[in-house]
Amino acid sequence: MIQLTEAATLDIQDEIAVITINNPPVNALGYPVRKGIADGIDQVVQNDQVKAIVITCKGRTFMAGADIREFGKPPLEPMLYQVLETLDECPKMTLSAIHGTAFGGGLETALSCHFRIAVPTAQFGLPEVKLGILPGAGGTQRLPRVIGIDKALKMITSGNPIGATEALQDGLIDEIVEGDLKEAGIQFAKKVLAENRPLIRVSQNDEKIAAAKGNNEIFDHFRKSIARKTRGFQAPENCIKAVEASINLPFKEGLKRERELFTELLKGHQSAAQRYVFFAERQASKIPDFPKDIPLLDIKKVGIIGGGTMGGGIAMNFVNAGYLVTIIETKQEFLNRGLGVIKKNYEITASKGKMSTEDVDKRMSLITGSLNLKDLADVDLVIEAVFENMDLKKEIFSKLDGICKEGAIMATNTSFLNVNEIASVTNRPEYVLGLHFFSPANVMRLLEIVRGAKTDKSVLATSLSVAKKIKKVAVVVGVCYGFVGNRMIAQRGRETGLLLLEGATVDQIDRVIFNFGFPMGPFVLSDLVGLNVGWDDKSSSGSTIREVLCEAGRFGQKNGLGYYKYEQGSRTPIPDPDSLKLIADFSAKKGYEQREIGDDEIIKRAIYALINEGAKILEEGIAVRPSDIDIIWINGYGWPAYLGGPMFYGDLIGLDKVLETIKQFHAKFGDVWKPANLLEKLVAEGKGFKDLT
Ligand code: 3HC
Ligand code: NAI
Repeated sequence: MIQLTEAATLDIQDEIAVITINNPPVNALGYPVRKGIADGIDQVVQNDQVKAIVITCKGRTFMAGADIREFGKPPLEPMLYQVLETLDECPKMTLSAIHGTAFGGGLETALSCHFRIAVPTAQFGLPEVKLGILPGAGGTQRLPRVIGIDKALKMITSGNPIGATEALQDGLIDEIVEGDLKEAGIQFAKKVLAENRPLIRVSQNDEKIAAAKGNNEIFDHFRKSIARKTRGFQAPENCIKAVEASINLPFKEGLKRERELFTELLKGHQSAAQRYVFFAERQASKIPDFPKDIPLLDIKKVGIIGGGTMGGGIAMNFVNAGYLVTIIETKQEFLNRGLGVIKKNYEITASKGKMSTEDVDKRMSLITGSLNLKDLADVDLVIEAVFENMDLKKEIFSKLDGICKEGAIMATNTSFLNVNEIASVTNRPEYVLGLHFFSPANVMRLLEIVRGAKTDKSVLATSLSVAKKIKKVAVVVGVCYGFVGNRMIAQRGRETGLLLLEGATVDQIDRVIFNFGFPMGPFVLSDLVGLNVGWDDKSSSGSTIREVLCEAGRFGQKNGLGYYKYEQGSRTPIPDPDSLKLIADFSAKKGYEQREIGDDEIIKRAIYALINEGAKILEEGIAVRPSDIDIIWINGYGWPAYLGGPMFYGDLIGLDKVLETIKQFHAKFGDVWKPANLLEKLVAEGKGFKDLT
C-alpha cells in the first residue's frame, strides 16, 4: 500500500487500483485529498498492470464536499475541478464506491468516474446552494447529463439529497451493493473489464440533455416555480444559469461558465453569510467548559402537559422520532381536541403523499392521552406547555416533583417566565430547564434550551442530544425575560409600533421588513396570529394600538379586519383607511406629530434595535456567542440566511456606523436606545462581533 498523502492511500491488487480517502470527520476534499487523488491517478496511468481504479472512503462517509474552511483562503493547487478533469480523461476504467453522503465535490468526483456503486443507505446531493454557491467542479454540467435537466435543476437549486433507490432509478448510480463496499467495488470493476463494457464518460454523453436543447421555456418555467421560495437569494439563479450552459455550450465551455458563476457567488457577501451560518449552526450545540464525555440520561418516554397549540406540535416532534408520548389535559374535551388536531395534521401530510395512512396510524399509536398527571410517573422527560401563567406553572411543577421518577428531566415551554422561579418549587432544580419551542412547533427548527441557575450539565447535554434526535437546531440560552429571541423581538415590536405613531404606515413598515428578507412584516404577522390572542375586553383600556384595534372589533385575518382588511376567504392583506385612521387618532391623542418617515429609518430602527439588544444579551452572558443569536433569528424568526443574522449583519454594516446611528436615536428617542456597553467597547477597540466568536 502506498501512502499518497496524509489523507489518501493507493493499493494495487492485480489489475485493480484502490484509492482510499481517509480525512475525518467527513472526508472533505481539502488539499491532501485532492492531491492524493491526483497523484494516485498519475501513478496508475503510468502502471500498465492496472486496468481500473476504485475510489472509496474510510470512516462514516464518502467525500461530503469541498472543504468549506478553505473557501476565501488563497487557493492551493490542484484545484478540485483540475483533479476531476484528470479523472474524467483517465484512460483506465474509474469507479466510485459510495457510502454515507456523496455531497457537493464528493458527488462531483463520483460523476467524473465511469461508474458509481453505492450501499443502500447512501445519499447523493449537491448542497452548495445552501452555502450560497453552486457546484463548482462540474456538477452543473455533469449531473444534467446523467439524470436530465428537470431533476438536475431541482437537486441543484434545492440542495436536497436523494437516496440510493432513487439514484439507481435515475441512473445516477449503476448498482446498489451490500456487504464490504471496497470488495464490491473491486468485483464490479472486474465484471466491467471481463464483459468489456464501454466506459461511460459523462462529459461526452449528451443523450439526456439533447431534448432540452433550444428549449428555454424549461428554465423560465422553473424560475417561476421556485421564485417564492428563493426570494432574495442569489445562488439559485446562478445555479439555473449554469445548468442552462450545460445545454447551450459544449462541455468545456460549460465548465468555464460554471466557474465564472461560482466565483461571482463566492466573492459575494451572501455566500460568506451562508457559510458562516453553516458553521454557526454546528457551533451552537457546543457549550464552553462542557466535557465531551458527559453522561447522558436515557430518554424513551416523554410526557407533555397541555395539548394546545404548542403541546400538540411538540408531541408531533417526539412521535416523528419514535418516542412514546403521553399528553395530559384537564378535560376529555380538550384532550380529544388536541389529539384530533395532531391526527388531522398527519392526515394532511398523508393526503399530500408524504406519508402513508399506515404511518399516520403508527404515529398516533405512540401517543397516549390522559387527564391524570400521575400518569407521568415513569416518563424520562416532561415538557409543560400550559397557559403562560406563573402560578399555574409552579403548581404543576410542584406536583411533578412528587410524581416524576428520579432522574426525569422536567422542562417548561414558557415563552417569557423565569425558569429559576419555576424550578424553585421543586426539590430537584438541577433537573429543571426550559425547552422553548417555536410555533408551529412541528415545523419550526429552533429550540431555545434555557439553562437555569441550577440545571445539571448532564440534563443540558441530554437535552441537546434529544434536540438533535427530533431534528431541532438547539441553542442554549440563559434566564431572562423572553430569553434571547422574544427579548429581542420585543425591541423590534416597540420600534415598529412607535414608527406607526410617528407617521409610517402599516403597509410601508411591512413592505420594508418584507423586502429586507423576512417572510412577512410585523403587522401581517399580527393579523395572522390574531390581535385578540391574550387580549381581554374587560381589562382593555385603549392604551395601545392593539387594544384600540381590538376594541373596534378588529381581530385580524380571522374576522377579516385587523391592521389590514381581508376579502372573504382571502388571506391577501389590503391596506385599510379605517385602521389607519384609528391609528392616526390614537397617535394624535398621545401627542405625536405625524411626519413622513423614510424606508431607511424604518430599517435602522427595526434592525439596529435588535443589534443593540443582542449586544446587551451577550454582555449579560444570556447567549454564549454572537453566532448563537444569529442562529436563533434565522431558525425562529425568519431572518434571511443570506444576511447571516442580526449580529453578522451588524459586522457587515460596520459596528462603528451602527453605533453612531444608535447614539443619534438615543439622543432623539431616549434611554430605550442607550447603546450597549459591549457595542461601545467593540467599536473603541476596532473590533466586530466576529472577534468574540
Ligand atoms: N468542509 C469542512 N468541514 C465540514 C464539511 C465540509 N464540507 N462538512 C462537514 N464538516 C464538519 C462540520 O463543521 C463538523 O465539524 P465539527 O465537528 O468541528 O463541528 C463535522 O464536519 C461534522 O459535521 P456535522 O456535525 O454536520 O455531521 P453530520 O453527521 O450531522 O452531517 C454531513 C454530515 C451530512 C456531511 C454534513 O456535515 C453536511 O451536510 N456537510 C456539508 C456538505 C456540503 O455542503 N458539501 C458541499 C461543500 S461545497 C463544495 O463541495 C463545492 C464544490 O462544488 C466545489
Ligand atoms: P394553548 O392555550 O393553545 O394551550 C394550553 C393548553 O394547556 C390548553 O389546551 C389547556 O387546556 C391546557 N392546560 C391548561 N392547564 C392545564 C393543566 N393544569 N394541566 C394540563 N393541561 C392544562 O397555549 P399555547 O399557545 O400552546 O402555549 C402554551 C405555552 O407555550 C405557554 O407557556 C406559551 O407561552 C408557550 N409558547 C407559546 C407559543 C405560541 O406561539 N403559542 C410559542 C412558544 C411558547
